[in-house]
Amino acid sequence: MEKERLNAERIQDLCATTWLGKEICYYDSIDSTNAQARRLSEEGAAHGTVIVSDIQTGGKGRRGRTWVSPGGSGIWFSLLLYPDIPVERAHLLTLVAAMAVVKAIREKTALEPRIKWPNDVILSGKKTCGILTEMIPRVDGKNRVIVGIGINTHTRAFDPEIADTATSLVLEGAKEVDRAELLAVVLEQFEKYYDKYGKTLDVSIFREEYESFLVNKDQSVRVEDPGGAYRGIARGINEDGELLVECEQGLVAVNAGEVSVRGIYGYV
Ligand code: BTN
Repeated sequence: MEKERLNAERIQDLCATTWLGKEICYYDSIDSTNAQARRLSEEGAAHGTVIVSDIQTGGKGRRGRTWVSPGGSGIWFSLLLYPDIPVERAHLLTLVAAMAVVKAIREKTALEPRIKWPNDVILSGKKTCGILTEMIPRVDGKNRVIVGIGINTHTRAFDPEIADTATSLVLEGAKEVDRAELLAVVLEQFEKYYDKYGKTLDVSIFREEYESFLVNKDQSVRVEDPGGAYRGIARGINEDGELLVECEQGLVAVNAGEVSVRGIYGYV
């Protein structure tokens, strides 16, 4: 098991990035890597700092949910970013992160994960990775962003409430997953897309590739809108990263902040 160890030195040695993860803060246990990223940012941590923990005692999911994060079973990490982009476009970093995770899992295993818009990484119709992007607004306008990523790598069994919708790389048949190696590739991929995306301020540069991984493309979906749920066919994303859904009213652009999208027969 020595080879599989997750620690800052191993991740740094394996990681061929230019700026992302030059500072890696590793913990055996922490409440939440997103919460720790926020604290470190207040203490002056640099853009590109990566916070990783083997265990999270208070892992946070989207919509106020808990993210169960036991030791040795996954990669729980956050990227602290000080992007030179308007705050309303920062959510696109979530799509960038989903792409990076999909590419890394495809590179390091024989699995072929896909993306459930906007940011769940899916294997066999179940979620293996979730992403929580949070904003740190600042009076000087130089807003900061925390991209928190949880990848279930070695989990063998999930709590009953999520057992139907959650999976892990090992449960899907991946052999000898090395968390530090996988994390290093995620960071390399993220840095590559971030550098390109920062220049164009839209997702057009990777739209085609993102759509090729989109598990719900051309599928029937149910859009859970606070104003009322409706059905349609997901057709892809626009340059703002919104999901284009063909429904009775025509082509509707769905914004991830307001709604959730499910398959009509289940989670995907
Ligand atoms: C989701 O609900 O799908 C998002 C889950 C995000 C979990 C990750 S684990 C690392 C980081 N720290 C947290 O507290 N949450 C994110």
